Amino acid sequence: MPGRRRPERDDASERPSLAPERVLAGRSLVHGRIQAVEVGLDSDGRILRVAKQMRGASRRDFGEMILMPSATDLHVHLREPASADSIENFASGTEQAAVGGVSAVGEMPNGSPPADRVDRLEAKRDRARGRLAVDAFLYGLASHPERISSLASIAAAFKLFECPTTGIDEPPDAPTRVQLLQEVDRVGLPLVVHAEDPAFFRATPAAETLSDWNRARPPEAEERAVTELLQAAPPLRLHFAHLTTVASIRRVRQAGFSCEVSPHHLLLAAGPAADARRKVNPPLRAEEMRSELYEAFRHGEIPMLASDHAPHSASVKAPPFDRAASGVPGLSTMLPLLLAEVRAGRLDLGTLIATACDRPARWMGLPQGRLVPRHAGRILAVDFRQRTEISARRLPAPCGWTPFEGREAIFPAYHIFDGNEIASAGQYTGSRVGRVVRPEFARPPAPHARPSG
Ligand code: DOR
Ligand code: ZN
Repeated sequence: MPGRRRPERDDASERPSLAPERVLAGRSLVHGRIQAVEVGLDSDGRILRVAKQMRGASRRDFGEMILMPSATDLHVHLREPASADSIENFASGTEQAAVGGVSAVGEMPNGSPPADRVDRLEAKRDRARGRLAVDAFLYGLASHPERISSLASIAAAFKLFECPTTGIDEPPDAPTRVQLLQEVDRVGLPLVVHAEDPAFFRATPAAETLSDWNRARPPEAEERAVTELLQAAPPLRLHFAHLTTVASIRRVRQAGFSCEVSPHHLLLAAGPAADARRKVNPPLRAEEMRSELYEAFRHGEIPMLASDHAPHSASVKAPPFDRAASGVPGLSTMLPLLLAEVRAGRLDLGTLIATACDRPARWMGLPQGRLVPRHAGRILAVDFRQRTEISARRLPAPCGWTPFEGREAIFPAYHIFDGNEIASAGQYTGSRVGRVVRPEFARPPAPHARPSG
């Protein structure tokens, strides 16, 4: 029309076959401001377009609620392959993800047996079929350099543990680590490292409190491991898990690599309590370090957030403190806790979306995490007025406890997964539509002979 500004080119309206099948209406963060938006999805549940208004076959209006992308959690321990007495499995873990607004989880390889051989990883992938409430991607264990290439045909990424932990008794030595870095680099998949150097651990006196545990595995153990790895690191997609010190985070960023921080390190501190439920590796740090870490997160210095969901039964968390298992559950509470931080004015919504939704998905090569065309329609509707207190009784978590009992949280009012609702107000309402996925950039591995061992 002469004299009228041409609207943004809208291919979908010009080609009727591309008209959205479903439209979700609400408000969203656009260019730093909360604005009314409508998100159009195609028949596969992918985002076709985002605009102020559009027509579509069916419409769901979320009113004043905030529409945001669902999260990708790079770091969960679903304890697969799960036996009858396992505290978690693919089904229970991914239901918690759905409720907590997470639509893809990275399952760590320290199960029993560990995912350290291609046949074990294949079996793990097969176990996932029909059980997943959201998508999952599988880590292979970086333990034997000669197995990396075969594992890479199934794995989405690799995990290297530098210290003994649940399911890992003998981590690789320094020369083997260098070979592992090279092999993972060669196959082109991401590598996540648990960086704590056991040479800096103190075994005595036996830890009885959270402060003791912080002293037993001190911040220097992390800082030294990070420095050593950065010196040895070839140019690969290297990512440091659950960092707790701002010094190591700055070093990692300066070297051009990636890292994550976990909600328990952001929100909980070590102290005189003999509370083995909050015993975790790396340990909770003293309050001063915790608040420094939170400030760095708030100011956008830490690229990603990941739960490090590591549930244990109440019995293995029982006293004595020094014998209790390490690890805390946190998959369903990660986003709700931080949405409550946003509501309290301590955190920007944009920072939360970048660290929990956009960057982890991008790093793992998954087409989700932003409300943009071609991304999966995995969308949360958040009502910032719906505050709750976290209570283990109401969480869908088989372990039956949480280190965040009583803390304020905002659970997504609705979780839409590829266009369909899978959770609403803390309840899982979906069907098992999740799949095992790999990064879009994963190249098919070179032909290899399968190792026998
Ligand atoms: O506290 C931890 N628990 N740290 C780890 O590295 C492993 C995890 C687990 O799997 O229980
Ligand atoms: Zn972990």
